[in-house]
Amino acid sequence: MADAERGYFLRTVERRGGGPQLRIRQRSAGDVGCVVWDAALVLSKYLETSSFYRDSLHVFSGKNVVELGSGTGVVGLMASALGANVIVTDLEELQDLLNINIKDNMHLVTGSIQAKVLKWGETVKDLPSEPDYILVADCIYYEQSLEPLLRTMKDLSGNKTCIILCYEERTMGNNPKIESRFFELLQTDFEIEEIPLDRQDEEYRSEDIHVLHIKRKRHH
Ligand SMILES: C[S@@+](CC[C@H](N)C(=O)[O-])C[C@H]1O[C@@H](n2cnc3c(N)ncnc32)[C@H](O)[C@@H]1O
Repeated sequence: MADAERGYFLRTVERRGGGPQLRIRQRSAGDVGCVVWDAALVLSKYLETSSFYRDSLHVFSGKNVVELGSGTGVVGLMASALGANVIVTDLEELQDLLNINIKDNMHLVTGSIQAKVLKWGETVKDLPSEPDYILVADCIYYEQSLEPLLRTMKDLSGNKTCIILCYEERTMGNNPKIESRFFELLQTDFEIEEIPLDRQDEEYRSEDIHVLHIKRKRHH
């Protein structure tokens, strides 16, 4: 049966320097996690761009990476194609889609990748403690999730963990309030560095999509 008949549609992501594309299946019916969001593309290409340059601090080979709210898994898959050992996480209902996309892209993985259930705010089990990187794309979008998401970021991260968070600034409805509340809460425990556009992928970048490096504040 064709993909479209089974309710899937494909999103391909080009690789820098040629090479086989990532092939990400999206589901036409389902919640927000079933499609690749623009912030996920910007973050994936940022990871690829920053590891492409030799003088970059962000080389992912052999690094432990946990992604939160992975959706289709595109960001984690890109990190694993760059050599990282990745755990992509999301709610129970996204696990099938994550596993399909892992299977379809396994030939690109040079590190490792697996999917696990992780609901924000719940006790973190079976995940590497204090991973090198935590990746988060387009996860600031509803009020009730802000504190649980921050709790998970805090529970998982150590002093050396770099959280790379990418979000699309939205001006509609409640979005500005939700974003500013998130950053207000975030600043209690974390330091934030915004990555300028000229350090992002030349093509996959946008004025309204922000890439941030977030680290735990050292309390004296
Ligand atoms: C807007 S989607 C972004 C998906 C993907 N990161 C991307 O950018 O394409 C938000 C994701 O967060 C997940 N999510 C929402 N609430 C969550 C929660 N309480 N615990 C874990 N994941 C959650 C959703 O299932 C969804 O996959």
